[in-house]
Amino acid sequence: MIIAANFKTNHTRKSTKEYIEKLNSYVNDLGSKDSVLVFPPSTALDSFDLNDKISVGIQNAYATEKGSFTGEIGYEQIEEFGIDTILIGHSERRHVLGESQDEIVKKYEFYKAKGFKIIYCIGEPKKVREEGIESVIAYNFAQLEGIDISYKNLIVAYEPVWAIGTGLTASTKQIEETLGLLKEKIKAPILYGGSVKVANTKEILGIKNCEGILVGTASWDVNAFCEMIGIAKNI
Ligand code: 13P
Repeated sequence: MIIAANFKTNHTRKSTKEYIEKLNSYVNDLGSKDSVLVFPPSTALDSFDLNDKISVGIQNAYATEKGSFTGEIGYEQIEEFGIDTILIGHSERRHVLGESQDEIVKKYEFYKAKGFKIIYCIGEPKKVREEGIESVIAYNFAQLEGIDISYKNLIVAYEPVWAIGTGLTASTKQIEETLGLLKEKIKAPILYGGSVKVANTKEILGIKNCEGILVGTASWDVNAFCEMIGIAKNI
């Protein structure tokens, strides 16, 4: 299973270091076989000395080696830290920051060519969910346009927009139905994200076709995130 923490715009360089030290010693003691991914803010990236089950990734990067793209980070800046894992297509980038599918495809192609592990996010807004499952699947499949879903280092994260940061988790039935239909097309592992917390981790990880979780808010507390890793180990 894959247990991932997305810090978004939270934690500092100092608190990330403390977090990662605690997480590392927890995973060392636990001896878990699950993969743990952590996406801190770019300012907190570093070359951490970690248990080989833990990877630190980047939340976003520009599709360039280097160049004149003010405010962006390219491959050269990421490579310095030995980072080879990236989140692409997160709903906050799509819906809040206005990233288009074309830009997302460019990023995907660029970091795929670098051999990165890509956690590629898809997910429908509330209005689409209210239209029913056919619209949900059509919307999610449209977010795969231009994406090579046979890429060997791809992990897909299904994160319904209406469940992100809202405390509203999709129901077990909704997750199971959606993942089942997505799985007909996507052979890569699929994670669920959207208000995952300690209290619902066991239930969500028990859903058919759910191969892990991508956690925002609840993961910002290292103790809670460690608890989730502990729960995953016992499933
Ligand atoms: P929350 O866990 O805060 O709902 O965020 C989910 C998410 O967006 C992870 O990428």
